[in-house]
Amino acid sequence: MKEISCALRFMFSAEFWAMGLCWTVSLLASYWQLVLRRITGRCEVYPRSELPRNLPTRPVCIVTGATSGLGAAAASALSKEGFSVVLVGLSSELLSEAMEEIRKRNKDAHLKGFVVDLSSFCSILEFKSSLEKWLTDSDMHSSIQLLINNAGILATSVRPTPEGYDQMMGTNYIGAFFLTKLLLPLLKTSPVGSRIVNVTSFTHRAVFDAQINEDIVTGKCFFRSKEYPYARVYQYSKLCLLLFTYELHRQLNLDNKPWQVSVLAADPGMVKTNIMQEVPFSLSNIAYLVFRVLGLLQSPENGINSILDAALAPSHVSGAYFFGGEGRTLRSSALSYNTRLGEKLWNISSNMFFDLKLASQATSSSS
Ligand SMILES: NC(=O)c1ccc[n+]([C@@H]2O[C@H](COP(=O)([O-])OP(=O)(O)OC[C@H]3O[C@@H](n4cnc5c(N)ncnc54)[C@H](OP(=O)(O)O)[C@@H]3O)[C@@H](O)[C@H]2O)c1
Ligand SMILES: *[C@@H]1O[C@H](CO)[C@@H](O)[C@H](O)[C@H]1NC(C)=O
Ligand SMILES: *[C@@H]1O[C@H](CO)[C@@H](O)[C@H](O)[C@H]1NC(C)=O
Repeated sequence: MKEISCALRFMFSAEFWAMGLCWTVSLLASYWQLVLRRITGRCEVYPRSELPRNLPTRPVCIVTGATSGLGAAAASALSKEGFSVVLVGLSSELLSEAMEEIRKRNKDAHLKGFVVDLSSFCSILEFKSSLEKWLTDSDMHSSIQLLINNAGILATSVRPTPEGYDQMMGTNYIGAFFLTKLLLPLLKTSPVGSRIVNVTSFTHRAVFDAQINEDIVTGKCFFRSKEYPYARVYQYSKLCLLLFTYELHRQLNLDNKPWQVSVLAADPGMVKTNIMQEVPFSLSNIAYLVFRVLGLLQSPENGINSILDAALAPSHVSGAYFFGGEGRTLRSSALSYNTRLGEKLWNISSNMFFDLKLASQATSSSS
């Protein structure tokens, strides 16, 4: 009974229909671009390359949200490629299960799990020190080679994070930003080219009026709105991730050390995972049915193709948007390449980062 009334409430909300329509059109737009690029021969395709061999130990890769869906599948595939894989998840039980699952298929897998809540700044700070300690204790080089910002949620109600941000913006964008910012020194000290891959989504195409200000980036403005515009928050969080991908690409090049750290975006397309868990079961199943009929629904094992393409592309490739597997890339929305927006978002996010860092130093020195 509860399920039915909940499903009905969703069905009669404009947000739900806007989500269904806009996201389907966005996905079709991505596939249409693939077709056009094939016809015109303007397709930029990058082959997967071998792992660097001139490292004393296995290259280290971090996958966030590795306990389910795409993250779990990517962690498994990357451990097969020879990476030492650090799995990041919310629960230690789910992490152990995920690692056991990988070991069943690959006895040689080199794995380590860390419980981190990406929507909490303190948790991310703690993770950085535990990671560094683990690298030292296990005699590994004190650097990482690959960071995959994959964790993401589709929340359908508004919830505040420990820092008072919106949970979905906090997990999908701010958490990834903070983690990247804190781990950048470890990526920069890598003796071989290192890389960041952000898992974003075709849904970013549905954003046309990107206003970037602190109220929206933190999601605080949504606490005041009558209905939580969950679909818009999700697609906005994915646009922010993309703006950042390109902004970081620009900023790292300014560093005068081109290609030492490369940054790429990967869009898996439509994949059946737990991401729809907050949408009533009956409705998410209808959505999956529609995409299956269209031939566009993938399993996580197929969905990770664009993520692996990005992770394993030659080290000189940076700033590209992978979609559709087989090494293929696309252009993301025009808005995502807007340098002014990218810079503004960078400034706002960096200010948030430094404020929190100062606050955490103040509390740790006073205690
Ligand atoms: N599925 C699709 O069709 C699709 C399409 C485009 C893009 N994507 C993107 O792909 C990424 C992976 O999604 P998925 O489809 O694989 O979803 P999923 O099955 O729900 O997996 C999400 C993962 O993120 C973890 N997570 C959630 N909140 C977290 C937090 N605060 N801190 C740390 N970890 C957290 C989850 O842990 P728990 O299991 O413990 O909650 C889970 O391991 C997301 O960024 C999503 O936006 C998905
Ligand atoms: C990934 O996203 C984070 C957080 O949004 C951002 O700091 C970083 O520049 C992005 N990098 C890539 C490669 O997308
Ligand atoms: C971002 O910050 C830099 C340095 O503080 C400043 O020069 C620049 O104008 C800012 N950009 C935007 C778009 O706000």
